[in-house]
Amino acid sequence: MGDALIGAIDQGTSSSRFLVFAAKNAELITFHQIPIHKKTPKEDWVEFDPEELLHTVVECMEKTMYHLQEMGYDPANVKSVGISNQRETTIVWDKYTGKPLYNAIVWCDNRTVSTVDALLAKVPGKDINCLKGYCGLPVAPYFSAVKLSWLLQNVPEVRKAVDEERCLFGTVDTWLLWNLTGGRNGGLHLTDVTNASRTALMNIETLEWDPYLLRFFGVPKSILPEIRSSSEIYGYITLSHRLKGVPISSMLGDQQAALLGQMCVKRGQAKCTYGTGCFLLCNSGNKPIFSDKGLITTIGYQLGKTKRPVYAIEGSVAVAGSSIRWLEKNMGIIKSEHEIESLAASVADSGGVYFVPAFSGLYAPHWRTDARGTICGLTHYSTSAHIARATLEAVCYQTRDVLLAINSDFGQEPTSLQVDGGMAANNLLLQIQADILGIPVVRPAMCETSALGAAMAAGLAEGINVWQLDLENSASLVTETFQPSILEEDRARRYNKWHEAIKRSLGWVP
Ligand code: G3P
Repeated sequence: MGDALIGAIDQGTSSSRFLVFAAKNAELITFHQIPIHKKTPKEDWVEFDPEELLHTVVECMEKTMYHLQEMGYDPANVKSVGISNQRETTIVWDKYTGKPLYNAIVWCDNRTVSTVDALLAKVPGKDINCLKGYCGLPVAPYFSAVKLSWLLQNVPEVRKAVDEERCLFGTVDTWLLWNLTGGRNGGLHLTDVTNASRTALMNIETLEWDPYLLRFFGVPKSILPEIRSSSEIYGYITLSHRLKGVPISSMLGDQQAALLGQMCVKRGQAKCTYGTGCFLLCNSGNKPIFSDKGLITTIGYQLGKTKRPVYAIEGSVAVAGSSIRWLEKNMGIIKSEHEIESLAASVADSGGVYFVPAFSGLYAPHWRTDARGTICGLTHYSTSAHIARATLEAVCYQTRDVLLAINSDFGQEPTSLQVDGGMAANNLLLQIQADILGIPVVRPAMCETSALGAAMAAGLAEGINVWQLDLENSASLVTETFQPSILEEDRARRYNKWHEAIKRSLGWVP
């Protein structure tokens, strides 16, 4: 058992994980996972304790390495570690104490609607796309710069730490890397191009912090990490007992990592990941495409300091898996998330019920902070099963919305859709998705594509080319396909109704 192994941290919105892959065939050997606790102190506020994010990651690393040894593997064969992380989530901390100055403000937090309004008030026509040419993104609460702007304006402790030159900012990759490589004793303050592209502070063409964007959001450059490629040796682990001295050699936002893990390395290849939210990314090659259909321009990956970046266009949907959790925790319609599939399958259709889960407004392609969740079409006949089915359908309709936008921007129709993520284990969801799209939906046997992508990039930096896979045996390339099974007429009728429901959700918040 002397073959090289690669570790991947996957710090997501629902849990922290550490996974170990065999470099030769990308086989998942073992992993450990710990759920994390979301805080919702006020309506529209979503926070995490940054220390919990870190401690759960370290515990997962220790437990996974313990399992690995128990399985008879030599831990010394773990040659490098990569990081895949929830994006945009914003953390500020004191570089001398290492303590967070505030809770992490999570990507789907919506407290900054008024910050966005104030920022747009200085823009002619209050155009949310005024920064697109700089950073590829609309001005929206989703992105880190707006959250950071809010912290600087509303949390005196953060402003004071900035004035006293004690404050550091980072997305989750940066927070983990800084702590894992020494923290206040020399921790590395770096981020990668994919994560930086989600802050709205990085220029999408120069890949540097942009002076105009820094001024626009009122962010001092001194608190920002240095931007690096997604695949290079950044430094060595000091915090973990069992992985001490192992290099950290990749960092990617989780959706970009999944793009790599699904081998979408050619222009035009796309994947959709169903996690807490749902994110459809299409590789657009070495040049950015600027969408006029409400999509984001982002960095897909940059595999080495001297390599050209690969761009992607993205359709981001805020609520996917979190709507299932809402049915469980807030409504009590299901006792666990696993029950959604059998409950939804107990009825043939949603009985005319449409559910728009616009809990944080609507992201792509609408970008409307004034939208709120709406259930339409309820009758005496409607049951919890119809609502469960409408919840799954909502994820699929939103995916169709962003796929159509990608087709229009990209000028090509896909012949199938590659999918992954936790919710992709739900066969009914994928069947509904194929029906709603009218094209086959393809799921890999190994759905941990974010972690795999981070492991691939980490291996590359160490000279281990995970693309030299044994294609016949590669677990990641074994797939299952769901074929469309409804008539075009039915598909079109249902999709029109969905848009009627969307209209009713818009403008709910005055
Ligand atoms: O942009 C947010 C995204 O990175 C969150 O991903 O998998 O934690 O829902 P996930």
